[in-house]
Amino acid sequence: MTATFDWYLECSRCAATRQADGLPTVCPACAKPWLVRYRGRTPTTAERDRPPGSGLWRWPSFLPIMPGEDPVTLGEGSTPLLVTPRLGETLGLPRLLVKDEGTNPTGSFKARGLCAAIHRARLGGATAFTLPTAGNAGVAAAAYGARAGIPVRVYAPRTTPKPILTQIAAFGADLQLLDGHIGDCGKASRSYASESGAMDLSTLREPYRIEGKKTMGLELAEQLGWRLPTVILYPTGGGTGLIGMWKVFGELAAAGWITGPLPQMVSVQSTGCAPVVEALARGADECTPWPDPWTVASGLRVPGPLGDSLMLRAIRESGGTAIAIDDPDLTAAASLGTSTEGIDFSPEGGAALAAARRLAAAGRIGPNDEVVVFNTGAGWLYR
Ligand SMILES: Cc1ncc(COP(=O)(O)O)c(C=O)c1O
Repeated sequence: MTATFDWYLECSRCAATRQADGLPTVCPACAKPWLVRYRGRTPTTAERDRPPGSGLWRWPSFLPIMPGEDPVTLGEGSTPLLVTPRLGETLGLPRLLVKDEGTNPTGSFKARGLCAAIHRARLGGATAFTLPTAGNAGVAAAAYGARAGIPVRVYAPRTTPKPILTQIAAFGADLQLLDGHIGDCGKASRSYASESGAMDLSTLREPYRIEGKKTMGLELAEQLGWRLPTVILYPTGGGTGLIGMWKVFGELAAAGWITGPLPQMVSVQSTGCAPVVEALARGADECTPWPDPWTVASGLRVPGPLGDSLMLRAIRESGGTAIAIDDPDLTAAASLGTSTEGIDFSPEGGAALAAARRLAAAGRIGPNDEVVVFNTGAGWLYR
């Protein structure tokens, strides 16, 4: 193994390793995702307490970047963690906080993952990209591809909200609309990748999107004074947000940057597509693909996530749970959050808010708990 990079890749299932050069995809032995493992890095608390500037690239000790590299960036990260007293009172959760990812460039947390993936892929020699999307990842890939000067093809369901499709096209991507869901788009994207040589940026089919997304957890720790909340509610489709945060919490604890207990991770899905909720209830380690997935929260329409085992592991290790919300409830909660606090809730963020209400009503979380709801995208992209 050459020591070009101070990280290597480890298979999330069989623990095989490989070096990080080129354009890694999935483990060839078991087709499961690679995870980035850093070696020889010793993040100091001086670095923690004096991070220069803003944005996610402030944390090079935890990111796949080498000294001297210029990241592909549009100023992503540093999103607000908002105190929401009126909303909290309505839900019986006075310590409710909302991390508003809709303020990222391209309007969602997908910016974090795609900037990291495209940064590494550009240096790894990619000359074209392709990806399937439930919507927001397509917007981010189109924008960061444009930023890197590399063409992007996006496969999206025809039913994706119109403003999202408009954004994908505006950023110059080659937009292909298909009947069906993201799984169908994934098949088309993979076949285009193999015939054209374009790099496949699908969730967890390359190892770096998760590294970018994990910075949500890093920022949360920073914003809370290097400790973590009691509970995190996260709207879950492919699962990289949830998996990434759980990964970075372990890395921060190992570096001695955080103190106190880790949060319970709550995966929030839609009743129209809830493979993680179903697998958790069954005590399974893998999801069964959800038939005929449908929800207005398009980001949650992922019937067979590749990161299923990693998600289920994170939820169980954290003592969390998974909960499914129906479309009327998630829509009503998004509207409540938007009108009560002026935060532009996406339907996915509305699902997380509705889940907080449901868990509070059931006594599973209470007034003493510090509860963080992730609003993962901007509501205007759906209207
Ligand atoms: C707004 C929004 N929230 C949540 C998700 C689900 O994210 P993940 O795939 O990380 O579970 C998506 C995915 O498209 C999304 O667009």
